[in-house]
Order: sequence, then structure tokens, then C-alpha cells
Amino acid sequence: PQMLVLHGPNLNLLGEREPGIYGHTTLSEINASLEDAADRAGITVECLQSNQESALVDRIQTARSDGTRFILINPAAYTHTSVAIRDALAAVAIPFIEVHLSNPHAREAFRRQSYFSDLAHGVICGFGAQSYTLAFEAALAHLHTS
Ligand code: DQA
Repeated sequence: PQMLVLHGPNLNLLGEREPGIYGHTTLSEINASLEDAADRAGITVECLQSNQESALVDRIQTARSDGTRFILINPAAYTHTSVAIRDALAAVAIPFIEVHLSNPHAREAFRRQSYFSDLAHGVICGFGAQSYTLAFEAALAHLHTS
């Protein structure tokens, strides 16, 4: 795919998981709206959710040779812990946007630390499901100018 969308742990529960923080939109709805936007833009997108760090690392490594030109990633809890996913993104050197539904800066102190932000093309957080569509638009603009 030209665009790869990765969702980290517990995001499979979106819609029922702490809706006051993460909203009522499900992951299937988020993926469907990204797939629609990709169709309209004439690009290919693949969405993957995993609760496993290793699956996310493996998929990022594969992106090196499958035509992926941009990655949107919500690392979820791995945002605050995963040197391995950070290193995978650095290794493949594909530009990425870090996405969060909530605004981690307005929550517990441990959520302020991200292993991704300094490597990211940009960070979009705090807009609920709309964070993904905003990130998609930014990624598209980047693809059209690179
Ligand atoms: C999250 C924020 C993280 O701190 C948290 O662990 C998540 C979701 C978000 O999208 O707001 O699982 O990445």
C-alpha cells in the first residue's frame, strides 16, 4: 500500500473502551473512513491493529520493501514504552505521523513521554476519531509534494 495505518494495543476496543476519553467511533468505522478517503484520493491504504509489539515491528519492517510511502501510527500504550517500534520506524526511514485520539498532554504525567514524537513528521492528538482524518490529509499533502 502507499499508505500504512497502524493501530496499537486496545484500539480494537474503540467504541466501548472509556468512551468519555476515546469517543464512540469504532475502529472499523475509522478504518472505513480512511479507506473511503484513500479511494477518493486515488491511493492505496492498508490498516492493521495489533495488541502485540512484535507484530507492529514486523509490519513496519515489511513496509521497507512493499511500496509504503507514508505511515500513520497510533502506537497507543506503546507510545510511552516502545523503543522497539521507534527503532523499526527509524530503520525503515519512511515518514510517519503520530496520531492519538485523546490529548496525552492533558492526562496522566506518564503519557507526556513519547518515544515517537521527535522522529515524527508531525503529531496530531486530541481530536478523537477526527485525528485520523486530519493526519490522513496531512500525509496526502506530503505525498503530493514529495
Ligand atoms: C492513545 C493515548 C495513549 O496514552 C493510550 O495508551 C492509548 C490511546 C490515544 O489514541 O489517545 O491507548 O494513543
